[in-house]
Amino acid sequence: MITLGIETSCDETAAALLEDSRILANAVYSQIEHGMFGGVVPEIASRAHLEKVDRLAAAVMKDASLAPRDLGLVAVTDSPGLAGALLVGVSFALGLHVRYGMPVIGVNHLEGHISAIYLSRPDIETPFLALVVSGGHTAIYRVDGVEKYACLGRTVDDAAGEAFDKVGKMLGFSYPAGRAIEEEARRAAATDNGPSFPMARLSSSSLDFSFSGLKTAVKYFLAEKGAAFARDNRPLICKAFQEAAVIALVNNCAAASEASGIRRIALVGGVASNTRLREAMRQRLGDMVYFPPPTLCVDNGAMIACAGYRRFKLGLTRFPHMDPGGAL
Ligand code: KG4
Ligand code: ZN
Repeated sequence: MITLGIETSCDETAAALLEDSRILANAVYSQIEHGMFGGVVPEIASRAHLEKVDRLAAAVMKDASLAPRDLGLVAVTDSPGLAGALLVGVSFALGLHVRYGMPVIGVNHLEGHISAIYLSRPDIETPFLALVVSGGHTAIYRVDGVEKYACLGRTVDDAAGEAFDKVGKMLGFSYPAGRAIEEEARRAAATDNGPSFPMARLSSSSLDFSFSGLKTAVKYFLAEKGAAFARDNRPLICKAFQEAAVIALVNNCAAASEASGIRRIALVGGVASNTRLREAMRQRLGDMVYFPPPTLCVDNGAMIACAGYRRFKLGLTRFPHMDPGGAL
């Protein structure tokens, strides 16, 4: 069956086609419109989605040499996300339904991120733990199957990707800054000792995260050292920040794995494309740590199509219902 996946919850407009669980075509437009603002501007996001969504859908159809009548299912992100941005994708999907009559399934964006693991590891057994780590979310789930998600811990303030983006802004990178910080950190010599930033310690039994203290520590450090120091030592500062963020993520995954007795861990979401995080997770937790390729970690339509298709196969249809705050 051919599934079209549509994603417009934040600042990526994305469409993809799957034949069952195999990707036929995948197209993403990352909205550069927000770069100068240091973060996503909701109104600009909605307008950009509106301009691009039909073109992206047409592009994947052309790539796969398919026509709308070949679609057996449309899956669309309906929660959580920016209300106006979600509305564009949901309206587009419903438009296809009205015109062609295929079923439409609403997908939770976080369920989408988790489902990306099935595209690269279709055989992953449940239960597994999923660290969803992106610009809007940071949480660990126990996954027992479709619709069977238990949140074991989540951030109490900023998401990890948000911390990368905000620290990146302080250091002069444009939004989103995660990849730029990773690349800058790589320029620091392995032996150089940079600053070390403290991570918040929540209670020892908690699997929750906190990233706002780390962000504030970087802010005070930069204020104390001054602009010239920050400019000359940017690689070391990026490396120290990245290390603190990575250790916080790895520590909680290790604790969750120990507490649950589950060793299979899927690393998903935009920050999961970070090479240092992947390496540190494998070092600490072994080779049962799995991650999709970077293109399937950041927001994309294939993960949404995959989540929708898996639901559809089990008869767990869900007509899109917009829920900007929708938790998983
Ligand atoms: O999953 P995603 O595309 O969108 C959300 O659902 O938020 O994740 C985007 C986030 C941004 O905060 C971006 O800075 C971060 O993922 N990111 C990274 C890397 N690539 C993207 N963070 C750290 N290292 C990376 N290589
Ligand atoms: Zn996302």
